[in-house]
Amino acid sequence: MRKQLFVANWKSHKTQSEAQLWLQTFTPLLYQTTHTVILCPPFPLLAFCKSYIAEHHLPITLGSQTVSPHEEGAYTGEVSARTLKDFVEYVIIGHSETRQLHHETDEQLQQKVTLALAHGLTPIYCVSTETQPIPKLVTIVAYEPLFAIGSGHPANPNAVEEIAHSIKQRYAVSYILYGGSVTGEDVMQFSRLLSIGGVLVGGASLSPQSFAKIIHHA
Ligand code: PGA
Repeated sequence: MRKQLFVANWKSHKTQSEAQLWLQTFTPLLYQTTHTVILCPPFPLLAFCKSYIAEHHLPITLGSQTVSPHEEGAYTGEVSARTLKDFVEYVIIGHSETRQLHHETDEQLQQKVTLALAHGLTPIYCVSTETQPIPKLVTIVAYEPLFAIGSGHPANPNAVEEIAHSIKQRYAVSYILYGGSVTGEDVMQFSRLLSIGGVLVGGASLSPQSFAKIIHHA
C-alpha cells in the first residue's frame, strides 16, 4: 500500500478539553497505520496537543494552519515560523480561506514558503485552481476546488486526477493531496487516484470517528 498523508484541518474549532477528548477517542481508533497523520489545530492548542502526543507516543505529527510572512517583528497577531518550529513539522500555506480572509498575495505566500523552509518546516501548499502558481521547493500541494470546500459536494475524481497529473508534470512535488468534503464514504475515490497521495480534511476531521474512518477506508 502507498504511504499517504492524512491532514486534519480543525480550522477555528475546539477548546483544549475538546481536543483532549478527540485525542483520547482517536488513539484506539488509529491503531496501526503506516500512513502519515497530520493534525492542524488552532494555534493555542498546539502546545497541549504536542505534549499529549509525546506522552502517549502517538503516531501523529502536528501542523499549523498558517504562518506569518515575516521573520519576526511588530506584526500583531501573526505567528512566525521561528516560533512555530518548536511545535510543528508542517504548515498549511495558502488555504483558500486565509487567501480570502487576509487577502494573501502570491508574493506573501512565496515569502511564507521561504520562511517555513528556512526554519525546517514542510509547507502544505494549497491551490484551488490549476493555474495558481506553486513556489519552488514546495513538495506537498493540496488541490482544493472552492466549490468542494465545506459544501458536502466533493469534486469529480476524474477531474481531480487530471489536474493533479498536470500539476505533477509542471512542478517537482512529491505529494498532491485532494481536499474538499472528503468523508469515509468517498475517500477511496480519491486515494486510489494515481496522482493523489492523500487528503486534506476539514469538517470530517472534527469527529475522531469520521477521521479514523477516512484513514482506514482510503
Ligand atoms: P472540508 O474542508 O473537508 O470541510 O470541505 C477542507 C478544507 O477546507 O481544507
